[in-house]
Parts: sequence; C-alpha cells; structure tokens
Amino acid sequence: MSRNANSLDAYWMPFTGNRAFKQHPRMMASADGMYYRTVDGREIIDGISGLWCCNAGHNRPRIVEAIRKQAGELDYSPAFQIGHHKAFELANRLVKLMPGALDHVFFTNSGSESVETALKIAVAYHRIRGEGGRVRLIGREKGYHGVNFGGTAVGGMAANRKMFGTLVAGVDHLRHTHGIADNRFSRGEPEHGADYADDLERLCQLHDPSTIAAVIGEPVAGSAGVIIQPKGYLKRLREICDRHGILLIFDEVITGYGRLGKPFAVEHFAVEPDIVTTAKGLTNGVIPMGAVFVQSNIYDAFMQGPPTAIELFHGYTYSGNPMACAAALGTLDTYEEEGLLTRASALAGYFEDAVHSLRDLPLVVDVRNLGFIGGIELAPIAGEPAKRGFAAYVRAFEMGLLARTTGDTFALAPSLIAEKKHIDIMVDTLRRVITAID
Ligand SMILES: Cc1ncc(COP(=O)(O)O)c(C=O)c1O
Repeated sequence: MSRNANSLDAYWMPFTGNRAFKQHPRMMASADGMYYRTVDGREIIDGISGLWCCNAGHNRPRIVEAIRKQAGELDYSPAFQIGHHKAFELANRLVKLMPGALDHVFFTNSGSESVETALKIAVAYHRIRGEGGRVRLIGREKGYHGVNFGGTAVGGMAANRKMFGTLVAGVDHLRHTHGIADNRFSRGEPEHGADYADDLERLCQLHDPSTIAAVIGEPVAGSAGVIIQPKGYLKRLREICDRHGILLIFDEVITGYGRLGKPFAVEHFAVEPDIVTTAKGLTNGVIPMGAVFVQSNIYDAFMQGPPTAIELFHGYTYSGNPMACAAALGTLDTYEEEGLLTRASALAGYFEDAVHSLRDLPLVVDVRNLGFIGGIELAPIAGEPAKRGFAAYVRAFEMGLLARTTGDTFALAPSLIAEKKHIDIMVDTLRRVITAID
C-alpha cells in the first residue's frame, strides 16, 4: 500500500481509539513552559504534565542543553560490562533524594520496565536467600503498573488484563480502596479505609505467607482515576509485610519527583518500602528512562560469589543510556535550582481549593486531591461508563485544556512550575466543560 508521509494510517497508536482519532486528530506541534501549541496554532494549557511526566514544564533550557551536549560527546555506551560517568553520577544524586536505606538504583527505560525489574528482583532476592518458594506477587484491584506481562498481571484494571490470557501465574490482588462512601470529597488523604490493608492478612492466610514474594502498590493511583490511599493504609501494609517477610514495592512512577510536594511519596507518607519504581519525571519525560531504588540489604544479598559472576541476569540495552542520563541530570538540576521537588507543597492548598470548587456542579460526584494531583469524578451515563468522561476530555481539548480522563474521572496533575493563574485557567476551563456536556 502506498501512503504519503502525512497519512495517519500506518501508526498504530497506543491506548487510543485509533479510528476516532484518525477521523478527528489532536496533533501537537510544540510546547513551552505550561503550554502546548497544536498544529493549527491553538494554545493548550498542560493540565497533566504531558502524561504525568513533564514535572518541570516544557522546553527547559538545562535539559535541552544537556541532551545537545551529550549527543556530541558520548551518544551511546554499552550497558553491560561497560560504564560511563553520568550513570554513576545520576545514581549517586538520586539516592541522596530518596530517604532511608533505598540507596541503590537500577536503570530502565520506562515505568513498565521499572515494574518488571522490581518484581524480578523481589523473586530473585528471596531465592538467593534460600526462600525460593516465595514466588507469588500481590497487586491491588484498580492498580496500574504498566503494560508488560508482570505489570499487567499485578495490575488491577480489567480492560488492561482481559485480552492477555492468564498472565503471570500465582498473582493475587488486594481489594481496591476506591469509592468508600465516607471518603467522598476528601481533601488530602481520606480518613476511612486503613483497615483495607488487612486484606493482605487474608491473602496470607489463603496462600500462606511463605509463598508470597512481594506486594506492589501505588501510593496514589493515577491511571485508574486518582485513588489516594487512606490515612494509615500504607503504614499498615508495611507492618503486615514485615510480619510475614514480604517485600513491599511502591510504584512511584507518577508520585515520584515532586508530585506530592516531597521528592517521593516515601517521604510524604513516611513509610519506607523495600523497592521503589520510578520513571516519567526522572527525565521530565523528555527521554525515556526509569529507575528502580532498592534497599541496601537487597543489593548486598546479591553481591556474593566470585566477583566476576553476573549477580542479576537482567538489564536493558538502554539501561543507563548516556543521553537519558544527561537528560535526567539536566532535569535534577532544574528541579534543584527552582525548588520544584517541594514546590507543590506550597501551592497544594490553593490547588485543593480550586479543584474542590467544582463540587457544586451537578454532574460532579466526587473530588479528591493530594499534592499536585486532583481527581474530579463525573456521574456516568447510565449503562455507558466512560462515555461522558471521553466526551468531556475531547471538549476540554477543544476548549484549550489537556487533562486526562479514566472512565468518568478527570485527572489534573499540573507541572510543578504551575502558578496560581495556571491552576485558575485549568479549573475554569473544566467548569465550562462540565457545564457544557450532557
Ligand atoms: C504507577 C505507574 N506504573 C507504571 C506505569 C507505566 O509507565 P510507562 O508508561 O512509562 O511504561 C505508569 C504509567 O502511567 C504508572 O502510572
């Protein structure tokens, strides 16, 4: 088939209704600061940091310059058995940002790969310690951990799972914490539901804890429509994991790098997991990269046997890629120079008031928020879940706002450079959108 260069046909777009999109494309041309510009010259305010990743906004000089320079200096260096300084420098800077003993970093290229890496490290860790029977992985309903087989298996969004067979064997799920009636319109962490963590005890009794390697969860779930774990929930999970020798993995792919007003949710919730997965904001979304943080005792457990022996049979051609490392270092410079990793805490109250101001709209059935994350849930059209949400998403784009909808919930996650006036524009636009739709 012959196609001209502008044909939209050949590209199979991810997580997109391809046919509808290709009938009515939404195409970006450029981006700067808080705004995108479309190919037809319209300005779109970025209410979701690209896709929860451009935490420092767009077209940031430090990052652009770092990439330019790196491309002319060391474009690629083999990831296996060869090193380059920027990868080590980046790891050192990252572990300084992370509290506690999470002081070793494994590099990947995405959130999905970070999750696979974390799950594999967890299973392998138990095995090298003589607990090879610990192979079960526990996720949570409505969790999202990317799209590879492990992440899909521990994930809990039905649409993401149902097409892909039986996935990884032995996985089970905690029940989700969404929709607890008393928590509607919570400001910050919801009051009710810490006891939902006790579900892990139930799974321990069902499977026997000696078969469970790890529990993975998002401190705040973004992809399933902004689910903020209730007060005390994560601490309780930690306690149950400790009781049974189970590793706790926080998936911080969206909460990492300042989203909650601290560098990581680990610090915000004051709960220290054994492994933390990150990506997205690590490079401001500019070059694909992920980083998995592990506790020193996990790293040390692998460092045995002859020193030439490969300790972990895992890694990617682009682990610690020089271009990605340069982008990440430029990103960290930007975060540090502008105080972005804690900036959301200063504006979180303003953001909270702004999103909760939408509560009076008849279609709004819940509003929730934490740091620079807001969820505005709309009543579904009877029998047609997600239809209203998608119509609202398209309308918002037409009215100049890029947000994200899952089902019938709008997510807002502005870049950490956002000022009050940007928050006002986002929320005003959402008000007009929600008022305009059926
Ligand atoms: C919590 C979480 N984990 C993993 C991922 C997957 O990341 P990626 O799309 O970079 O593979 C995402 C993406 O949104 C996420 O929110």
